Amino acid sequence: SVYRMQKSSESIPHSNEVGKYADVNWDELGFSLTPTDYMYMAQSKEGLNFAQGTLTPFRNIELSPCSTVLQYGQGLFEGLKAYRTADDRILLFRPEENALRMKKGADRMCMQAPSVEQFVDAVKQTVLANKRWIPPPGKGALYLRPMLMGSSSHLGVQAATEYIFLVFASPVGSYHKGEATLNLLVENKFHRAIPSGTGDIKAVVNYSPTVKPLAQAKAKGFSDVLFLDSVTGKYIEEVSACNIFMLKGNVISTPATNGNILSGITRKSIIELAKNSGYKAEERAIPVDDVFDADEVFCTGTGVVVTPVSSITYQDKRYEYKTGKDTVSQQLRAALTGIQTGSIEDKKGWTVEI
Ligand code: COI
Repeated sequence: SVYRMQKSSESIPHSNEVGKYADVNWDELGFSLTPTDYMYMAQSKEGLNFAQGTLTPFRNIELSPCSTVLQYGQGLFEGLKAYRTADDRILLFRPEENALRMKKGADRMCMQAPSVEQFVDAVKQTVLANKRWIPPPGKGALYLRPMLMGSSSHLGVQAATEYIFLVFASPVGSYHKGEATLNLLVENKFHRAIPSGTGDIKAVVNYSPTVKPLAQAKAKGFSDVLFLDSVTGKYIEEVSACNIFMLKGNVISTPATNGNILSGITRKSIIELAKNSGYKAEERAIPVDDVFDADEVFCTGTGVVVTPVSSITYQDKRYEYKTGKDTVSQQLRAALTGIQTGSIEDKKGWTVEI
């Protein structure tokens, strides 16, 4: 088993001490959990800042059944990746951005948040303790999942007085494993976010409502679901676990962050890289009709990186897009992953070496 239990009193080995690589079939990685050796956990009590965290073996955690995260979804998560470079360095991509987004989400959900410094330090510690689980170059990344949750018990709806900040890690490959391009179904009935709700923060409650439409779309053979705005049903918003872009001529467009849309760090990075490559990049309300005659459509996210969309189906009509080697999405993906994996010089200061 890959699950290695150790007594917490044992010192935490630098994973080099137990072999450079864990016993993983690196060619088979998808986006599923491979439990790793250690996780980081810190607690905040009585409205005070988070105490110093500790690494413990990856294991189940104890929570009151009446904790606010379990009762009312007072929880947030983040996602970021550590890559192993060809010359065996380890790079994180813009981790402060995840820390800041967790702070913004914590404010909306009335939660205590770790400082940016503690967040980034926790991520670094988790990566180093699980170093042997970072895939070899070109085989994927170590995905970090920072979580924030209300852990004290309250029967009525209110903010918790105690919080857990936890970071665990899992090696991952492609989010849509086995699908080089995505076939999206525009969802007509269910919505993901409402105005002034929580669509623009990484609240755990944004994701469970997508499960049913996603399962229904998958049962019909689609890869994922494209949600429309919940007020008019006319504008595209995002896919279940990623942002969306379209390309028409020399212009890439993505829905503006109007409060419903997750302000993706990959999204923001792709906008900047596209502008640097001479494309016009716009953030605007995008009517679903505009997408039908796009040249290219692609999704962005930490999980999906940049994944081309080969078709969108809306009310039984299917629209197809250019994919493959000679596309702008491929060019942008290469520019992004080159920086993330250290094969292209990072002139933007986006990567953090650990
Ligand atoms: C990510 O891309 O890291 C996300 O957080 C989306 C998640 C649902 C996989």
